[in-house]
Amino acid sequence: MPGRRGAVRRALGFVRPYIFGAGAAIYLFAVGWTRWRHRAAIVDLCRHFGYRYDAREPTELPVASASAIAPSGTLFEIREIDAVDGNVSERELITICRLVRASSPAELFEFGTFDGRTTLNLAVNAPAGARVRTIDLPREYVGSSVAPIHSHEVQYADKDVSGARFLGSDAASRIVQLFGDSGSFDFAPYYGIMDFVFVDASHTYEYVINDSLHALRMLREGRGNIVWHDYSRWDGVTRGLNELRRLHPAFRGLSWIEGTTLARLHA
Ligand SMILES: C[S@@+](CC[C@H](N)C(=O)[O-])C[C@H]1O[C@@H](n2cnc3c(N)ncnc32)[C@H](O)[C@@H]1O
Repeated sequence: MPGRRGAVRRALGFVRPYIFGAGAAIYLFAVGWTRWRHRAAIVDLCRHFGYRYDAREPTELPVASASAIAPSGTLFEIREIDAVDGNVSERELITICRLVRASSPAELFEFGTFDGRTTLNLAVNAPAGARVRTIDLPREYVGSSVAPIHSHEVQYADKDVSGARFLGSDAASRIVQLFGDSGSFDFAPYYGIMDFVFVDASHTYEYVINDSLHALRMLREGRGNIVWHDYSRWDGVTRGLNELRRLHPAFRGLSWIEGTTLARLHA
């Protein structure tokens, strides 16, 4: 009976995802959790049900207005405006572009390439002849970095291509890609030559401290701009920057740019 067969097929099509989901959940919590890829799926599941690893660290940095860091009339260029999870917001991208245009850095460094959206915008807003270096964690290093990265960060590291948004673009020749774990990478060749550093790799406290200290040493004669992403949103960033400002004289000038999760040091 064709009518009855069709109804059975529809019923099977309806229950199939539930059966598959139940099987996957049993696997996930029985043995799947032993692999980092599946632990990231558990975090996503928790988020779906309302769990938030919300910021618990109080913010301490003084707030600075965006117009105080770059004149409001600054002209800048924006590429790849549409953000995906893992990118800076549109407002944050605009703020970074304004700051780069206003400060004209010749040498720029980014911790955490991801899809290269910010890298590309750094490159097109820096003056002619400028160079952007950007470091990313190769996906094979995810389970073996010198300190564990947060399970929610795994999805940004686990990708086929790093810097997809600038590869093949007109700005690609101004960008140098570096690969490695910022916890063990040799940054010595970049000390003392950077004018602008963007810190946006792992947001665990240990990596924030590590990357920030390298960023400071990278500045040319100790002068320039360092910008961090996710202050106030990620506890590791908030705690790390609060402590650096309290305890390290070179970070005393840290501020939090209003309307963003960007922190900035103008040394
Ligand atoms: C949030 S994404 C960066 C987003 C990017 N800066 C942007 O503005 O679109 C974090 C990136 O940092 C990288 N990363 C995480 N831990 C790292 C580490 N220990 N060393 C180097 N890169 C790391 C990840 O592979 C990922 O591509």
